[in-house]
Amino acid sequence: MALEEIVANRQAGEMHDMLNGYPSDGEGAPVPPPSRSALDAEAVKLAYRRWANVYDLAFGGISRFGRLRAVEAVNGLPGTDVLEVGVGTGLALPHYNADKVITGIDLSTDMLAKARERVQRDKLATVHDLLEMDAEATRFADNSFDIAVAMFVASVVPHPRKLLCELKRVVRPGGYILFVNHFLAPGGVRGAVEHAMARASRSLGWHPDFAMESLLPPNDLARAYIQPVPPMGLFTLVTLENLPD
Ligand SMILES: C[S@@+](CC[C@H](N)C(=O)[O-])C[C@H]1O[C@@H](n2cnc3c(N)ncnc32)[C@H](O)[C@@H]1O
Repeated sequence: MALEEIVANRQAGEMHDMLNGYPSDGEGAPVPPPSRSALDAEAVKLAYRRWANVYDLAFGGISRFGRLRAVEAVNGLPGTDVLEVGVGTGLALPHYNADKVITGIDLSTDMLAKARERVQRDKLATVHDLLEMDAEATRFADNSFDIAVAMFVASVVPHPRKLLCELKRVVRPGGYILFVNHFLAPGGVRGAVEHAMARASRSLGWHPDFAMESLLPPNDLARAYIQPVPPMGLFTLVTLENLPD
């Protein structure tokens, strides 16, 4: 295998791991079998225990624009109480405006520990709490937040629609729910390429086939505000007003 091919496979593998939450064999081929639904709570905790120390270095760069766009969008929305689900190592936390009050949740103790270190180190006064909690089944009361944001999380949880339902429950009516993620392109050349790549995903070590429809039912899909973000529109920012179905 040519050196460029090895490097490309390795990068694809790392990207795949980050977006899907489980490790590759280092050459890009995923282990265990690449089923997102198999990624239960224990698997997520195990995978992110491994990633916690290197996450910022390995994934912080490529995902930076998407994260900044999402936080910028949150900052521009009305309301103060923000829930960040899958807060990870807290890379987004320094970027919220001072008038926002952030509650971060994550399943991974190890990722949360990094986020807590960041809050202490950078004296982040906007962060109200960081809690270990499952984003698909939180312990928050109905209508607890003005805004919920999930960055690079929707394709990691086992039941994306359940995540959406939970966020609709904890965000007040008229509040906002935002996702930034890689989604399968709806069509065109990129869509065709991603479908072709998905068929070869085991050898590529990359799952480009997380469709927006897996997350958003048709009604939400029709009214969501959808913006591509750099690099090269690889990620998409989805903003949804929390209106009754
Ligand atoms: C790809 S990382 C994204 C981290 C962060 N949002 C960022 O932008 O860097 C995915 C995060 O989601 C968390 N996660 C996965 N499933 C979760 C769940 N069901 N509930 C809460 N957090 C979850 C993982 O532990 C991990 O920290």
